[in-house]
Amino acid sequence: MSHNTNENPFDVIKKDPKRQQQFIDAMSYSHLHSSYSMNHLIDNFDFGAIGHGTILDVGGSHGQVSIAIARRFPDVKCIVQDLPDTINGLGSRVPEDLKDRISGMDYDFLTPQPVKEADIYLFRWILHDWSDKYCVKMLQSLIPALKKGAKIVISDICIPQPGQLGISADRSLRSVNPIFAHHVDYVIQSSTHHTGSLQVDGIVGSWISR
Ligand SMILES: C[S@@+](CC[C@H](N)C(=O)[O-])C[C@H]1O[C@@H](n2cnc3c(N)ncnc32)[C@H](O)[C@@H]1O
Repeated sequence: MSHNTNENPFDVIKKDPKRQQQFIDAMSYSHLHSSYSMNHLIDNFDFGAIGHGTILDVGGSHGQVSIAIARRFPDVKCIVQDLPDTINGLGSRVPEDLKDRISGMDYDFLTPQPVKEADIYLFRWILHDWSDKYCVKMLQSLIPALKKGAKIVISDICIPQPGQLGISADRSLRSVNPIFAHHVDYVIQSSTHHTGSLQVDGIVGSWISR
């Protein structure tokens, strides 16, 4: 509203290279805060179970999460997908010793997923700032690409029922994550109800009080 536009925030930010870089830097910086640490994902999901398989890091920015995964799980390969202006900067961020296992691809996650052989499709911090309609579209864009046994891993902030956290933590969570968290079951069921073959394991994880 403050920009008097119907565009989504990413389209607004990318018009200004300085703001684009600020956003990418902010994503990297936020990983330093314990609540947002990548370790919550890497310690609690066994990416190594796919052996020499491939993880597609959808909306993976400059590859910070893929770099951490590739460091922890030495056999996996990662493909980082993001919008062209962001993915162009990936090459300079990936350490030399990981270049053979981390590559980049420009891709708009609201369009059909072109990579069909991945073992894991990872959405970390992607769905929370899109309305249900677009979250459903992102997940449905994957469905034709999924091979048998492929997994979709969603790592994001969920909001518990009112009263479960203190007022301050509750307010803080609701301010950054206004839409997705209440609707996670709806989004997953809406995305998958056409395909009886998809098994939805539901939510795993724990609340982190701040
Ligand atoms: C909140 S950041 C999350 C980055 C990373 N997954 C992480 O956990 O640090 C959201 C990312 O989605 C990307 N993005 C936004 N719109 C996109 C689109 N339509 N297609 C692909 N990526 C998009 C942004 O460029 C940004 O890198």
